[in-house]
Amino acid sequence: MYRTKSCGELRLANAGERVTLAGWVQKSRRLGGMTFIDLRDRYGITQLVVEATAPESLTEVAASLGREYVIQAEGEVVERVNKNPKLPTGDIEIVLSSINILNKSVTPPFTIEEESDGGEDLRAKYRYLDLRRAPLQRALALRHRMAHEVRNYLDAQNFMEIETPYLIKSTPEGARDFVVPSRMNPGTFYALPQSPQTFKQLLMVAGYDRYFQIVRCFRDEDLRADRQPEFTQIDCEMSFVEQEDVLNTFEGLMRRLFKNVLDVEIPNPIPRMSWYDAMDNYGSDKPDIRFGMKINNITSLAQGHGFSVFDSVEYVGAIAVEGAAEYTRKQLDELTEWVKRPQIGAKGLVYIKCNADGSFKSSVDKFYSQEQVKAMAEQAGAKSGDLVLILCGAKRKTQGMLGTLRLEMGNRLGLRDPFNFAPLWVVDFPLLEWDDETNRFYAMHHPFTAPKPEQMELFYSNKKEDLERVNANAYDFVLNGTELGGGSIRIHNAAVQERMFEVLGISKEDAEYKFGFIINAFKFGAPPHGGIAFGFDRVCALFGGQDTIRDYIAFPKNNQGRDVMIDSPSYIDAEQMEELFLKSTAPKREE
Ligand code: AMO
Repeated sequence: MYRTKSCGELRLANAGERVTLAGWVQKSRRLGGMTFIDLRDRYGITQLVVEATAPESLTEVAASLGREYVIQAEGEVVERVNKNPKLPTGDIEIVLSSINILNKSVTPPFTIEEESDGGEDLRAKYRYLDLRRAPLQRALALRHRMAHEVRNYLDAQNFMEIETPYLIKSTPEGARDFVVPSRMNPGTFYALPQSPQTFKQLLMVAGYDRYFQIVRCFRDEDLRADRQPEFTQIDCEMSFVEQEDVLNTFEGLMRRLFKNVLDVEIPNPIPRMSWYDAMDNYGSDKPDIRFGMKINNITSLAQGHGFSVFDSVEYVGAIAVEGAAEYTRKQLDELTEWVKRPQIGAKGLVYIKCNADGSFKSSVDKFYSQEQVKAMAEQAGAKSGDLVLILCGAKRKTQGMLGTLRLEMGNRLGLRDPFNFAPLWVVDFPLLEWDDETNRFYAMHHPFTAPKPEQMELFYSNKKEDLERVNANAYDFVLNGTELGGGSIRIHNAAVQERMFEVLGISKEDAEYKFGFIINAFKFGAPPHGGIAFGFDRVCALFGGQDTIRDYIAFPKNNQGRDVMIDSPSYIDAEQMEELFLKSTAPKREE
């Protein structure tokens, strides 16, 4: 046996025991003839001591130890004189009788401790060393625990875990596909699944009425803190259900995860908000409801007073920032610059200060009386001491900008505590989204989402205004301003599915080529069905209080989609290219 105990488990009660530990040397230091070694493994850190009176041979070995050497150490557990309350093992130390060096290590490129001195790129290159650090170990342990809870819950609810293929045909989820050339079928390509969407629906046709899978998905899209090119979903589908059944089942899953993993009770039931209210009041389809500061429409109060900027637009909206009337000129200028950044794109910012003495000071005082300014401030929900911030323009776009400003002000006021959890279902999404650029409709969720049954007439209308009004039994699970999951009740009728492709401007031939298999399957008795998928990496990160998912994935990619540890993606041999019938038009590799 290499070890009798781990580096995280010994306590005062173990004093007097002889133990053998194995692990990595985090630090070793000499002090008055003694050597102290911090030994680390997955379970914790234990202090080892080679006493001044130890045999010379042992002292010599101890002195030769470098950082990250792998050793086996035997000795006796004793009570520490200088206890370390920060370590669970801090009451004891091991007085060593032997050290066996199992492997040496070259000096690591950064310190492997709770806080590291290594930059992000360096740590990514040596990910296996970064993964030795406690914060990453905690993150992966949380992920493991979550997966375990998910499986237990869904198993108890009769869900079957069924794997679906990775080498498939394109599944439309709105991103670009990653493709894989087929050697055996020259000139053809597999696509990696953006999700198992069509397969889970085929499993419903096959009668597996409750399916789930913790599954990798692949999307070639621009990366952000909460997006990776390959990520994991808790993917689920159910037959003979309505929206209410799906929401209840997965509310149960979320409730259980919060209770069992974090010991947090979430609201019961989880609040629901229509997509339209979310957009109007929060400027986002994933509202952060940990704080108020809702967006208010002040268009009718703002217009008709000779201020042409407001008079010439569709919409004027405002948020009231609590207690911010004290903002200085400089702070307001800085905020104006902030909303004008290209990422936000506002043309300018109008403000109203609601002074403590009951007066109002605004940047447009020239055009409005005190009464009129007061009316706008009240409509924005402001009290005395608040600062009203106003943007104007096209309605949805302006609401979006106000939504971003609202989150920024929420951050500045410290209203977004990551451990205050505010879950929400956003429901009643529009089925379709018009795109001016391509002059066509896109499916807001995906093309398999069903129109609301009572709106079938509108769905078969050929008028754009009618189609824009069709809603779907589609839902997103939102936590603290992040979309954690989304799903819908599906189309299970071949004719309706064909109509959907038609509405999306996909020709009969194209639909047949791309989705013939699913239209065909629906002709063989497809049951009514619906489902949802949660972004597992995101769920784990938010449970860990982070908004970056990278640390919750053992081997993630960087913002350029590269794995710098294994140096991928990389060039392949000319021979391999030929075998796959590929020719590259990209610049040649730098030799
Ligand atoms: P959707 O596209 O909304 O739905 O994806 C479900 C959830 O997956 C997460 N997610 C991501 N996480 C990390 N990196 C990414 N690049 C990424 N993209 C998405 C999000 C999202 O809410 N087939 C449908 C589900 C269904 O209808 O049942 C689907 O994939 O948390």
